[in-house]
Amino acid sequence: MRVIAFLSLFVGLVLGKPLETDQLISVPEGWLHNGQASPSEEVELTFALKQQNVDLLKELLDLVSDPDSHLYGKFLTLEEVASFVRPSPLTEKVVQNWLQNHGVTRCHTVLTQDFLQCSMTIQVAETLLPGTEFHSYKRNDQILLRSSSLYSVHEDVSQHLDFVGGVLRFPPREKVISKGWEGSRPTAKGIHLGVTPSVLRTRYNLTEADVGNAANNSQAVAQFLEQFYHPADLAEFMTLFGRSFKHLSNVERVVGTQGGGKAGLEASLDVEYIMSTGANISTWVFTNPGRHESQEPFLQWMLLLSNMTAVPWVHTISYGDDEDSLSTAYMSRINIEFMKAGVRGISLLFASGDSGAGCRHLEKENVFRPSFPASSPYVTTVGGTSFKNPFKVSYEVTDYISGGGFSNVFPVPPYQASAVKAYLKSGRPLPPQSYYNTSGRAYPDMAALSDNYWVVTNLVPIPWVSGTSASTPVVGGILSLINDHRFLKGLPSLGFLNPRLYKLQGTGLFDVTNGCHMSCLDDKVEGQGFCASPGWDPVTGWGTPNYPALLAALLQG
Ligand SMILES: *[C@@H]1O[C@H](CO)[C@@H](O)[C@H](O)[C@H]1NC(C)=O
Ligand SMILES: *[C@@H]1O[C@H](CO)[C@@H](O)[C@H](O)[C@H]1NC(C)=O
Ligand SMILES: *[C@@H]1O[C@H](CO)[C@@H](O)[C@H](O)[C@H]1NC(C)=O
Ligand SMILES: *[C@@H]1O[C@H](CO)[C@@H](O)[C@H](O)[C@H]1NC(C)=O
Ligand SMILES: *[C@@H]1O[C@H](CO)[C@@H](O)[C@H](O)[C@H]1NC(C)=O
Repeated sequence: MRVIAFLSLFVGLVLGKPLETDQLISVPEGWLHNGQASPSEEVELTFALKQQNVDLLKELLDLVSDPDSHLYGKFLTLEEVASFVRPSPLTEKVVQNWLQNHGVTRCHTVLTQDFLQCSMTIQVAETLLPGTEFHSYKRNDQILLRSSSLYSVHEDVSQHLDFVGGVLRFPPREKVISKGWEGSRPTAKGIHLGVTPSVLRTRYNLTEADVGNAANNSQAVAQFLEQFYHPADLAEFMTLFGRSFKHLSNVERVVGTQGGGKAGLEASLDVEYIMSTGANISTWVFTNPGRHESQEPFLQWMLLLSNMTAVPWVHTISYGDDEDSLSTAYMSRINIEFMKAGVRGISLLFASGDSGAGCRHLEKENVFRPSFPASSPYVTTVGGTSFKNPFKVSYEVTDYISGGGFSNVFPVPPYQASAVKAYLKSGRPLPPQSYYNTSGRAYPDMAALSDNYWVVTNLVPIPWVSGTSASTPVVGGILSLINDHRFLKGLPSLGFLNPRLYKLQGTGLFDVTNGCHMSCLDDKVEGQGFCASPGWDPVTGWGTPNYPALLAALLQG
């Protein structure tokens, strides 16, 4: 047996098969090379095992999310999802034998059995994954190990794995979202509003009585940066800005480890605002989940969802990466994880990004740069708006930063096909076709204010905080309020919203029809991406929530 094990290891070096050839290898800004990893150092790698019944899972998601299907709202428990997708016995056996033959035995699995997370030394990792060479990288006081080259796996194993995590991708970049006091802000004309909970509640038509009431309702924000929210900041925020409505001032549960550093603007923003629209609703914070901070924190969160039977109904997440930097194998598998959440009745909301259509500079030309998971067909993506008149709670126009556009990887899903077609035919001036793929999944799906928020961080109220990471928790809290009414009526949660949202054709939303977002600064497009238009558009989606009308539209069935 030993001889065979040795042989297969040896053959593996020769017959390795790469899994993620299109994964970009580059060290993101801020990370410094810290020398080659020593053979005895430990890494923890995540093996994504091939699942069963993926096509059926997709069909099931369509059915439970389509209000016209007799299966609408007939959600599955995590155990049921597990029995559906868990890898075949052959897959489990082949992967386990492969790991054991390399002496990899310290592994954890998840309830759905489709991920294995294993600790091993660099020496073992480099033989297990031919082609790798691990190096140490440092950012502030965080150190992590990553391979500087692509990996392969043994040919016999390759058809049983989607990808291996913890080898190539770095944790997300920290986003700068506060405009601070920089620039010349209009002050001469009067007191600039700034967005606070009461401004949002007024604009989106939430009355004092519109707070959560159902016993089992819950919502969550997930954040993967090296920063954390401070309970004292939330309390101070609610003291300053929460006087006009009943709310909670404490987070119900923190999952993961909060960093030791200072409270972060983004972390504070997410939790302060989801608890302002989704007021009086139990709120969780997922923060750098997993045993090691050095892993892929977003992937860790996905694993957690597959390992916890009871998680909140609505999650808002402001993580995003350039679609072109991620391998198709990775994104496709993450999509399956989104489907697994959707069939459980969980709503996942992602920020659409803060770079408009984005810009990727290729050798000869520029193209727009979509972001993932915003471009995933299986999540609800939230864009940004600002007030037309910054001194008045009036109607909203496009925030030029609002992320939006078309995926270059995922085709347009059926639920939005006619909305996208209508936009493309609307006669709105469009950027040159060479910049984007009209056949791709288009986003965002809806929007909310994203400009000039007040946030309390490190006990100080800070103005001018902007970004779609502000609009996303605002929409999340409003969907939680709608879930609340559904629960009180004995109805299931909203789950994956998009199929139903697109059938509403804008009912319950304030249509945003003015303004364009930004893109490449070149001669051809001169910094302009897409423009808002009546109905759906790839800048603000269907528009921003008009709570009572949206509630009425989503409270049946
Ligand atoms: C999943 O949960 C089980 C039970 O709590 C735990 O033993 C296991 O380590 C978890 N898996 C991972 C990958 O964290
Ligand atoms: C909601 O707000 C808008 C604009 O502020 C207002 O016109 C409308 O009457 C309000 N109520 C409903 C139920 O839409
Ligand atoms: C707040 O929520 C709880 C249930 O979690 C409910 O009992 C209470 O009545 C709610 N408060 C208000 C003002 O609706
Ligand atoms: C709340 O959750 C518990 C446990 O899951 C369940 O037994 C109970 O029926 C739920 N209550 C409501 C009002 O949904
Ligand atoms: C459009 O999508 C195709 C693949 O479907 C891709 O090869 C091409 O580069 C994309 N176009 C742009 C502008 O990114």
